[in-house]
Amino acid sequence: MSIIQENERHFEDFLPDNGRQDIFDKLEALDVHIRQSASAYVDGLSVQLLGAVANRTTVRDRNGESREVIMLGSNSYLSLTTHPRVVAACRDACAKYGYGMGAVSLYAGTTDLHRELEQLVAEFYGAEDAILIPCGYSANVGVISALCGAGDVVINDAYNHASIFDGCALSQAEVKVYLHRNLRHLEKILGQLPESQRGRLIVTDGVFSMDGDIAPLADIAALARRYGARVMVDDAHGLGVVGPTGRGTAEQCGCADQVDITVGTFSKTPGAIGGYCVGSARLIQYLRYYARTYFFSTSIPAPIVAGLIEVFKLLRDDAAGRDRLWHNIRYMKEGLMARGFDTGSSESAIIPVIVGDEAKLVQFNNDLRRNGVYTNIVTYPAVRRKECRLRLCIMNSLTQQDMDTALDTICRLGRDIGVIA
Ligand SMILES: Cc1ncc(COP(=O)(O)O)c(C=O)c1O
Repeated sequence: MSIIQENERHFEDFLPDNGRQDIFDKLEALDVHIRQSASAYVDGLSVQLLGAVANRTTVRDRNGESREVIMLGSNSYLSLTTHPRVVAACRDACAKYGYGMGAVSLYAGTTDLHRELEQLVAEFYGAEDAILIPCGYSANVGVISALCGAGDVVINDAYNHASIFDGCALSQAEVKVYLHRNLRHLEKILGQLPESQRGRLIVTDGVFSMDGDIAPLADIAALARRYGARVMVDDAHGLGVVGPTGRGTAEQCGCADQVDITVGTFSKTPGAIGGYCVGSARLIQYLRYYARTYFFSTSIPAPIVAGLIEVFKLLRDDAAGRDRLWHNIRYMKEGLMARGFDTGSSESAIIPVIVGDEAKLVQFNNDLRRNGVYTNIVTYPAVRRKECRLRLCIMNSLTQQDMDTALDTICRLGRDIGVIA
């Protein structure tokens, strides 16, 4: 089965063969699977953080044991989750606005802070306007399903995030998938579209979430122009990390003015929760009416929005410690490669460490945590089982000592388990 087909599945192989039974039969099937074969994700689901996400934090394992770990599993790349200015703004707004909104944006769910954040996000990207959507997942679903419908075609990179595929499914547009970052395949698909099918959208992650590599966005935009397609980029992991001033993949590729739709999330570098879309004023106006995940979903709490305003001021001024982040990314990637690990073609704060064997991966991850290093694992259905890996996320708050200790531990345990020679 190709990753293209796998992307449309979600633990389907845990289901009973005969799908036409009681809808709850699959609950038992999954339960049996977990008990019999210890699903790779079981441990991850039962580890609890006992404090803020920082370079070091305390976790409690399934067996109740707690310990301090070096954090290599958080997407808060610039450590903004705990930035004093962000936390203070959040606390003040909580006192003034309360902790939740209690309404969708178009009812009583928009404060002055929400509009201020939309303007800051739009200005950050040099776009006309922006819309806040409750999370990154629902931003992709809402934007694609609002813009595309039956008769249109959405052309996806095979490694796009699941929320993009879910948005496509909801849209009822035709869905085509090109091999990961493969421009020849993309062009072949574009060249075979019937002349009459004019509603064409190419969607790509900017930074790919499982591999940390970057879309060839300038070339994609050039193809889009040649074949009359619109371009949408989901830059969840690019914001604040890649590009000369941290404005993401389009800035890195020098094609910011050729991207029609940028979707992002406040859950990675901004360290909070929420999603957004930026583009022309008309696009954003249209989405306010037709993106159902905006129209019918309660808006982001004001304290979070207040924190995000500070985040975007820091990002705007490139004052959130991106230089230190890149020092840490290079140090960790070079350190892993020098020790013989396969880190794929990462160009961002996400560094995969390919293991390729699920049993070894689970043991590696658990041993690392027991030895004070917190990592995440990625396996099916997010990637093929034979490409299963640790997924390291680098933060700018990691100290030199944190990184040296982590590298030594990863190397020692990787050798014990046979991941490296
Ligand atoms: C590329 C990409 N897009 C979208 C999302 C969804 O964002 P959120 O967690 O804010 O819903 C994620 C995060 O998992 C992601 O990695």
